[in-house]
Amino acid sequence: MESQHGTWSNRLAFIFAATGSAVGLGNIWKFPYMTGENGGGAFVIIYLLCIACIGIPIMIAEVMLGRMGRQSPINTMLSLSKTYGRSSAWSSIGWMGVAAGFIILSYYAVIAGWILHYMFLIAQGHFTGADGEFVSNTFSDFTADVSLMMFWFTLFMIITVTIISRGVKRGLELFVKWAMPLLFLLMFVLLGYSMVSGDFARGVTFLFSFNIADLSSEAVLSAMGHAFFTLSIGMGAIMAYGSYLPRKVSIVSTVGVIAVLDTLVALIAGLAIFPIVFTNGLQPDAGPGLLFQAIPLAFGNLPAGSLFGALFFLLVSFAALTSAISLVEPALAFFVEKYKMKRLYAAIIIGFTCWVLGIGTVFSFNIWSDFHIVQSMTIFDFVDSVSQKILLPFGGFLIALYVAYKMPVQAVIENLDLAKKHTHVWKALIGVIAPLSIVIIFLHSLGVFKLIF
Ligand code: PFF
Repeated sequence: MESQHGTWSNRLAFIFAATGSAVGLGNIWKFPYMTGENGGGAFVIIYLLCIACIGIPIMIAEVMLGRMGRQSPINTMLSLSKTYGRSSAWSSIGWMGVAAGFIILSYYAVIAGWILHYMFLIAQGHFTGADGEFVSNTFSDFTADVSLMMFWFTLFMIITVTIISRGVKRGLELFVKWAMPLLFLLMFVLLGYSMVSGDFARGVTFLFSFNIADLSSEAVLSAMGHAFFTLSIGMGAIMAYGSYLPRKVSIVSTVGVIAVLDTLVALIAGLAIFPIVFTNGLQPDAGPGLLFQAIPLAFGNLPAGSLFGALFFLLVSFAALTSAISLVEPALAFFVEKYKMKRLYAAIIIGFTCWVLGIGTVFSFNIWSDFHIVQSMTIFDFVDSVSQKILLPFGGFLIALYVAYKMPVQAVIENLDLAKKHTHVWKALIGVIAPLSIVIIFLHSLGVFKLIF
């Protein structure tokens, strides 16, 4: 059976699209500042462990579910559950994912708007010869300017809606094929700059030295949530992409490639940014503004920095776009299936809803910065935390349980083409290690019990 929305041309096209979804602001903007806020190396190690033990098995499960169901995540879960005689309540995985996609896109598009703005600032030579104080002031002036932020946010949303309305495959395949390798290349340029002119040794120590005392239960939860976020799992985005995957492709090795590429981009971003942060007296725990201070500083002091800097932000905005597209695909595919709606109309409805939601994030940085939903959380902090720390891990948890305990083992093994000797490893990962780790990390962060940290 084929999906009514089409099929990827081949394995490589899927790798490009799924990597396009995984690699985005999560790697380049979020990973560095979360590492900075959560004590460096300890956070990085937990994040890597979560990718390996929780993220990869769940990603494999998600792609497989998609390919077996061949529909939007909601309908895929419904039809598989019908086939296997399970409750239709399992489709709640799909519904939760749709909600998570809306919430994430609402703030994702705001930050992507910042990227667009910075692309123009750098191109105009705004940061040539800049120092730490100048970049910090530029950032706070910008975030204080509501109309400017609204403008870029709205523009990014319009671009996203335009592209998703045309279908994921037309354009997307071609687009990621060029943009991703170029982004990699420029990340290496930045890394080179950082090695030569930043405090590289200190950056490496910060990122990789494990000190258990730095680790709070909150940091562990953040690291796990980030593993979900960065791989685009737990909400059906990868399931939707999996539903367009040709039958012959090996899911396990393909997911391996995507996870490695995604992790590499995050680590390179961290290695490029922290040396610049340390040499220029920026604060590693500067929060969401970290990237917008470190990168302009680097390019502002490089020969032809305006050109390369603008190109860098352009490619990051491409990376953000390919992720944004996948955030709405579960909802979009569902609207098309259920209401026979045109992609364009579905895209406009989704885009508009996310735009309205996103206004809360825009205001979190200025007029509503003192408005706190719970404790000291602004609207942005709140939507970010709820989606990343609760919705995605919980969605992933349900996916793991479903594949491990609600589907015939033989069907799973055949679909994944697992060799006999690997089936035990797979069963242990998807049935025990992944779901149990999620539960332990959740309970631990709620203070139900105390481990060493
Ligand atoms: N993985 C994307 C990033 O790291 O920027 C964000 C994302 C995309 C999360 C799609 C979730 C998702 F479904």
